[in-house]
Amino acid sequence: MKPLAVVTGATSGIGRATAQRLSADYRVIGTTRNPGTVSDPIDGVTYVALDLHDPTSIEECATGILAHGIPEVLINNAGESQSGPFEELPRDAVERLFQVNVIGHVDLTQRLTPAMRAAGRGRVVMVGSMLGSFPLAYRSSYVASKAAIKGFALAARREFAPFGVWFSVVEPGSIATGLSDRRTKYVDETGDFTDEFTRMLNKLDANERSGISAERVAEQIARVVAAEKPKPLYACGSAAWLAFPVSRVVPLQWMLTLISRRHNL
Ligand SMILES: NC(=O)c1ccc[n+]([C@@H]2O[C@H](COP(=O)([O-])OP(=O)(O)OC[C@H]3O[C@@H](n4cnc5c(N)ncnc54)[C@H](OP(=O)(O)O)[C@@H]3O)[C@@H](O)[C@H]2O)c1
Repeated sequence: MKPLAVVTGATSGIGRATAQRLSADYRVIGTTRNPGTVSDPIDGVTYVALDLHDPTSIEECATGILAHGIPEVLINNAGESQSGPFEELPRDAVERLFQVNVIGHVDLTQRLTPAMRAAGRGRVVMVGSMLGSFPLAYRSSYVASKAAIKGFALAARREFAPFGVWFSVVEPGSIATGLSDRRTKYVDETGDFTDEFTRMLNKLDANERSGISAERVAEQIARVVAAEKPKPLYACGSAAWLAFPVSRVVPLQWMLTLISRRHNL
């Protein structure tokens, strides 16, 4: 029997492409908030319910996964893309974002790793964002959530390595998934930040639309899980091959200015 892989947020974009790619070598469990209404299901993928905003759903999802077997691969991909001026982000929106992008995935992972450790082999991939490494104005909550999940993964990596379970982070740049249509936005239309925020968002959405395909990220993720000893951090899209080496030699403010300019700020 093929080993088991779990991909959260498997109904669109990167998660869907990853579920499809992994289904060649794995029995794939893909998660969605609405398993009854998956519009274009992938052959060989079993869809299970997961709402990362709901602790009960996370608990039930983990139990359901373990009923299928011990996962060898866990791709924590599902996420919300939130934008807004720092001052205008509602507290409940920030809390929801951290529950979905950070705490939910930590919770799900904690429920699956004991079995993965006991099996002596595993791959856990957190899908972050290059914005987690290169912060952008008017994305502060999202940037912080992606930096947080990266922190969890890179610190936990050493804890799990002796058990043959490798934690890695994949940071996509701009990926053409249609995510722009699903972003949550919080801005006071009559506030001081509206013009700049709108300029940034228009460029952000244009970058997303002209980004690389979700399939290329899925290929990257497939290479990570196939590696004998996956590296801590991978990135793809948005000239990642240049951005990371440059960031190691120029002052941080130069990088921040560069990221702002790339978004018309
Ligand atoms: N696209 C980009 O440019 C880009 C760049 C950097 C990083 N990323 C990151 O890559 C990941 C995937 O992005 P994408 O562009 O592929 O997004 P997407 O197409 O919008 O897909 C998001 C997935 O997450 C699931 N999801 C949303 N809210 C959820 C919740 N509360 N609980 C459980 N599942 C939830 C959705 O499933 P259901 O609606 O079926 O529940 C969907 O399958 C995200 O973490 C995103 O932050 C994307």
